[in-house]
Amino acid sequence: MASEPQEVTASPLVKLNNGLTIPQLGLGTFLSDKGLVGEAVKQAIKMGYRHIDCAWVYMNEEEVGSGIDWAINEGICKREDLFITTKLSGSHYNEIKWALNDSLKKLRLDYVDLYLIHLPFEMKNDPTIKSLADLKKEHCIGYNAEKMSKVWSELEQLVSEGLIRSIGVSNFTIKKLEAILKTAKLIPVVNQVEIQAYFQQNKLRSYCKSKGILIQAFNTLGNPGLFKGKLDVEPLLDNAEVKQVCEKHRATPAQVCIAFGLAIGDILIPKSVTESRLRENFKSINLKLDEDDVKRLKSLDKNLRLYTMKAFCDPAGIPYEEFFDVEFDSSYQI
Ligand SMILES: NC(=O)c1ccc[n+]([C@@H]2O[C@H](COP(=O)([O-])OP(=O)(O)OC[C@H]3O[C@@H](n4cnc5c(N)ncnc54)[C@H](OP(=O)(O)O)[C@@H]3O)[C@@H](O)[C@H]2O)c1
Repeated sequence: MASEPQEVTASPLVKLNNGLTIPQLGLGTFLSDKGLVGEAVKQAIKMGYRHIDCAWVYMNEEEVGSGIDWAINEGICKREDLFITTKLSGSHYNEIKWALNDSLKKLRLDYVDLYLIHLPFEMKNDPTIKSLADLKKEHCIGYNAEKMSKVWSELEQLVSEGLIRSIGVSNFTIKKLEAILKTAKLIPVVNQVEIQAYFQQNKLRSYCKSKGILIQAFNTLGNPGLFKGKLDVEPLLDNAEVKQVCEKHRATPAQVCIAFGLAIGDILIPKSVTESRLRENFKSINLKLDEDDVKRLKSLDKNLRLYTMKAFCDPAGIPYEEFFDVEFDSSYQI
């Protein structure tokens, strides 16, 4: 009798262009509230997550750090087993080392595995900003290719100082990647962008692949917490095609969406602060979709961006066209 396939208990690793590896499935922490996120990080590490995506601007790094510290002190993992990412806020382009050190202090780390330029836009550094909700269009300064290249070269310097293992970008278009690559000594290891079944960004994906830059996708689940009830389309997790794939594999919609992202080679960071969902999501590493499933899920692409960055874009902020380097392509203004 054929034996049951063994359950996989660790995320697959993916090789970055600098030779280091990253767990393909990690944990996101955007909108993970204080009071919940520390426990979520503890639970996640206990169940096998080894990759956590943070950002200075999420304003919860201290609690994420306490969860990481707990896991290391409990002997659940060693620092070197973890892959921790954080991001440089657009308001800190003139004080990069301060920003990195502030994140390191909050995360209780002496280096991060990956540091990303969060957005290719400078923002005013306003100390009255105490939460994400305080960030307003008036804080936007905008995109400047020369400034971006200067920021990148400072990050390269911090890699050589050992405070960062790898550097990458987030929310960069092909045009903005081309600009940064003109002077970069280190190629970004990833471009962290929105990719979900309704918005697959195949042109950007091909470009990144041609340069050795991996896609780190956010919004894999179509963020039901943020977008449910605000869209004119079926939420991704309620989509009929997704559900059919679920039935075939006896999996949940979230697991199918995650397994799809893994099957197309992306690095994923689905967020949850709910223990059962953390487990459910992590178990996606055991779900192997076949060619038909992947084809079916690929056909869901509608070029539908959910994160339209309305908080920063028109009117009064950065023009949408400048932010995304495309004509406005979505009627779904969130
Ligand atoms: N670079 C950037 O500009 C950028 C932008 C956005 C996001 N990100 C990163 O990417 C991560 C993921 O993106 P995201 O948080 O926007 O969206 P997401 O991971 O697609 O969705 C998160 C939402 O889905 C819920 N959820 C999680 N697992 C679920 C499940 N199994 N079934 C049903 N609902 C589930 C979560 O609720 P609960 O937590 O209540 O369980 C939360 O409301 C972020 O946390 C952040 O680290 C980066």
